[in-house]
Amino acid sequence: MILLDGFAVANERNLALKQLTDEHLRKGERLPKLAIILIGDNPASLSYVKGKGKACAVAGILHELHHLPEDTKQENVAALIETLNQDSTVDGMILQLPIPRHLDEEVLINLIKKEKDADGFHVINQGNLYQKRPTIEPATPKGIMTLLAHYDIKISGLNAVIVGRSNIVGFPVARLLMDQGATITVCHRQTKDLGFHTRQADLLVVASGKPHLVTKDMVKEGAIVVDVGVNRVDGKLIGDVDFDEVKDICSYITPVPKGVGPMTINALLENTYKLYLSHSKEA
Ligand code: GUN
Repeated sequence: MILLDGFAVANERNLALKQLTDEHLRKGERLPKLAIILIGDNPASLSYVKGKGKACAVAGILHELHHLPEDTKQENVAALIETLNQDSTVDGMILQLPIPRHLDEEVLINLIKKEKDADGFHVINQGNLYQKRPTIEPATPKGIMTLLAHYDIKISGLNAVIVGRSNIVGFPVARLLMDQGATITVCHRQTKDLGFHTRQADLLVVASGKPHLVTKDMVKEGAIVVDVGVNRVDGKLIGDVDFDEVKDICSYITPVPKGVGPMTINALLENTYKLYLSHSKEA
């Protein structure tokens, strides 16, 4: 079994970004900047946002955190997004999810100018992805594809099974894997016999949000396993895959933590840098 070491690969790529941002600084140019909007005090979100800030510092990307109280009104979030849309020093912007239930996530995400949508969640950017046009790819799917490519894993011809159909992970990762020649099965809550499908997988991507949903009996020998889950259980972070059981039968597997998580953050930074370059060209 080979561990897909997202932590090491992300760190290497963040340092490569630093080389690029240093070069801009050397030429007297401004640095890229990511604005992060966090609403409320969800502990997981606070931890993610901290990780994003730290990675920005490694990569030489400026970041500013706009931490708003839980009871912030929709119009105030909208006004902040508008201000950041107009701010020419801001290249990328993200609204950390989940947001409190009284706010309309879809409306707010689509208020972010598509040219500053570092998460690739804007409906136009998602539409471009699904039509295979140039776009900003959503961070987690992009991070997963980068990690697989880093280990020279060939996607073409694989039976890829994805567990979860979210707009953030399951659905877009299916699109990206299909583009690279995989045959796709997407499983979800209504899937009748999950194990039947997962046992067919040469490549299994699990983004269900259910701790240890995937056990050894559900994985084919030699499969490549990508675990997107981050669940806090008894104070410990565990994935959607029972790592200790499954690691002995698969060919590759991502750990949790330090697997997909850091790759997601790296992809976010690479998206921010890409947006920065397109803004610099316009200027
Ligand atoms: N919450 C969980 N994952 C993500 C992500 O990739 N981006 C944002 N904005 N929020 C998230």
